Amino acid sequence: MPPVLPRCYLYCCLLCVRLLLLVFTGVCSWHTSGENDTDIGVRNPPVQATVDNFGIKILRYEENSGSISLSADLVSCENLHGVGSFDTTCLLNSNVYLNSSIYALGTGNLEILPHVSIACPIQGCSISFNLSGNVKVGSDATIFAGSVVIAAHSLSVGHNSSINTTSLGGNPPAQTSGTPVGFEGAGGGHGGRGASCLKNEQQDVWGGDVYSWSNLSEPWSYGSKGSGNSVQNPFGGNGGGRVKLIVEEELYLNGSVTAEGGDGGTSGGGGSGGSIIVNAYKLKGLGTISAAGGRGWAGGGGGRISLKCYSIQDVKVTVHGSYFLQLLLPRN
Ligand SMILES: *[C@@H]1O[C@H](CO)[C@@H](O)[C@H](O)[C@H]1NC(C)=O
Ligand SMILES: *[C@@H]1O[C@H](CO)[C@@H](O)[C@H](O)[C@H]1NC(C)=O
Ligand SMILES: *[C@@H]1O[C@H](CO)[C@@H](O)[C@H](O)[C@H]1NC(C)=O
Ligand SMILES: *[C@@H]1O[C@H](CO)[C@@H](O)[C@H](O)[C@H]1NC(C)=O
Ligand SMILES: *[C@@H]1O[C@H](CO)[C@@H](O)[C@H](O)[C@H]1NC(C)=O
Ligand SMILES: *[C@@H]1O[C@H](CO)[C@@H](O)[C@H](O)[C@H]1NC(C)=O
Ligand SMILES: *[C@@H]1O[C@H](CO)[C@@H](O)[C@H](O)[C@H]1NC(C)=O
Repeated sequence: MPPVLPRCYLYCCLLCVRLLLLVFTGVCSWHTSGENDTDIGVRNPPVQATVDNFGIKILRYEENSGSISLSADLVSCENLHGVGSFDTTCLLNSNVYLNSSIYALGTGNLEILPHVSIACPIQGCSISFNLSGNVKVGSDATIFAGSVVIAAHSLSVGHNSSINTTSLGGNPPAQTSGTPVGFEGAGGGHGGRGASCLKNEQQDVWGGDVYSWSNLSEPWSYGSKGSGNSVQNPFGGNGGGRVKLIVEEELYLNGSVTAEGGDGGTSGGGGSGGSIIVNAYKLKGLGTISAAGGRGWAGGGGGRISLKCYSIQDVKVTVHGSYFLQLLLPRN
């Protein structure tokens, strides 16, 4: 059993919403999901919890500086076939396909024009932008990689655009058992346990385990693979990736931010969700934030999401996965 109720106090308001919506499904049914959330000690939490700003406990702000690993190529705007520079404004107006991690640093702005995609579709490949200016992801644009980090003054993510790390997780931390042993097509675990289709009269049987309890407010682990159905086919869906958005002012999210587990198909377990960190002064928009587990023979567990904001306004952001919510005190 994972430890239970480590941060129940954060859920006072959400808990009642959830309890009202609870849907108890069996541990196993085809294409069911693993646990989205173990942190309130409830199995099979509601299909979705919508974050609103009623009754969220206000905690003291603690500075947490996340630094990016630099095992990536430092790129210029030109390297990405863009116009301008990261110290003024870089406009990306054509699709960019990468095959290794990149890191961009500058004092300017970035604008990814509508319908443009920047992708490194390799497990664990990272795309990082650390800019002092504003970042704008146009409507229908996509950033697709194993890890996506954006640090900026403000960030706007347009309608139908996506920051997507689904199924592109690299290796989960060593010494964790998120990927279930055996070939039962069980789901991977991370923020929640993976599901299993095994029946046992005495006790519940679960797939992969929960891990990374130590960093609930700063989750930065990849999700885990589900198990497959044979030695030849040992794994199901892949784990979810990681997203970190550090925004000084406003994050206007009309699109989606996802780190979901991969689909395990009809014989493999779903992968577990990865990790998402959102630190912003103000979070608003009609978007979605999801680190849900992947589907499969048995579903993967949800990943971890940490939202730390001074205000959450007009928000219709829908959060899937185990999450940590911190509303910070306004600055003086
Ligand atoms: C977990 O969340 C997903 C949405 O991403 C939903 O489809 C699924 O039904 C949820 N699982 C449970 C057991 O509620
Ligand atoms: C961005 O760069 C600044 C200065 O180079 C550094 O202090 C900061 O930690 C970086 N942000 C992230 C999210 O890595
Ligand atoms: C990666 O991309 C670079 C340039 O885009 C190319 O020169 C290189 O051959 C590619 N490497 C692999 C392994 O595909
Ligand atoms: C959303 O974006 C996807 C991919 O960019 C595109 O295929 C789809 O048509 C768009 N949907 C809408 C409603 O614009
Ligand atoms: C988000 O959607 C709202 C409502 O459609 C719109 O008013 C706003 O300008 C949009 N913002 C961005 C950044 O796309
Ligand atoms: C993210 O990528 C996955 C894998 O390619 C895809 O199935 C999913 O539809 C994408 N999600 C969004 C919101 O674009
Ligand atoms: C958790 O965060 C702390 C401090 O931010 C860091 O030292 C530690 O390595 C992290 N642990 C994991 C498992 O990521």
